[in-house]
Amino acid sequence: MHLRDASSVTPDPVVPRHVAIVMDGNGRWAKRRFLPRVFGHKAGVDTLVKTVLACADRGIEHLTVFAFSSENWKRPTEEVSFLMGLVLVAVEKYLAKLASNGVRIRMIGDRGQLTDRLRQACDRAESATRDNTRITLWVAFAYGGRWDVVQACQQAMRDGIDPAQLDEATLGRYMAFGDAPDPDLLIRTGGELRISNFLLWQLAYSELVFTDCLWPDFGETDLDAAISAFAARDRRFGLVKTAPVQATGT
Ligand code: IPE
Ligand code: IPE
Ligand code: MG
Repeated sequence: MHLRDASSVTPDPVVPRHVAIVMDGNGRWAKRRFLPRVFGHKAGVDTLVKTVLACADRGIEHLTVFAFSSENWKRPTEEVSFLMGLVLVAVEKYLAKLASNGVRIRMIGDRGQLTDRLRQACDRAESATRDNTRITLWVAFAYGGRWDVVQACQQAMRDGIDPAQLDEATLGRYMAFGDAPDPDLLIRTGGELRISNFLLWQLAYSELVFTDCLWPDFGETDLDAAISAFAARDRRFGLVKTAPVQATGT
């Protein structure tokens, strides 16, 4: 894999700076193979690592993945325990590879809900990759969009921000990504057409791409198809697009 610093990537206007993915469909992927659901989660981690490297190769600066939602705590205890353990396994298996490929890892979500061991693994992944600049991988774990809004408001209040001074930019800096740009493109695998409490604030103007592909099957072709769909979109941000001014002939 060719190492490349993000600062040396020539920005391509058709490549999104920030891609967010709802990695859905692991359970169904396993079920189709007559395997327990957790096999799908395990396969999903391998797909995630490949996808991070593929995004980095394409000059994408930020990749955010939804790995475990606030609502996923309500799943059967065995599945929740497996997913918690899978984080430890994934850090053990892939941290060195991601670190040596220039990936900076940031965990977003409610760390207060995690065990000490899990928190330590998250801290280790973040500190080992802190100085990397090729791509930032934001892992949304124990994350919910509504939780993010509430925690941002709480922090702003703790900091004594005057309500009269609280504007969108200020609150935005307290949200999960801080100063990082909002996602340009959201991809959801697994065929469902919903947000499921992912980045409610930050997806305000993201382009949405839904695919029936189940997450463990997601590959470079699917990524490129989503990027092509993004490139063909007309992002207006509420404005009226005016036709280019034509020179009037005489
Ligand atoms: C997404 O796959 C991964 C997590 C929510 C942790 P699912 O487990 O939701 O898979 P399906 O949607 O049941 O197939
Ligand atoms: C969204 O998938 C959460 C993650 C992918 C981590 P879910 O499978 O939990 O979403 P719903 O329940 O179908 O809305
Ligand atoms: Mg699902």
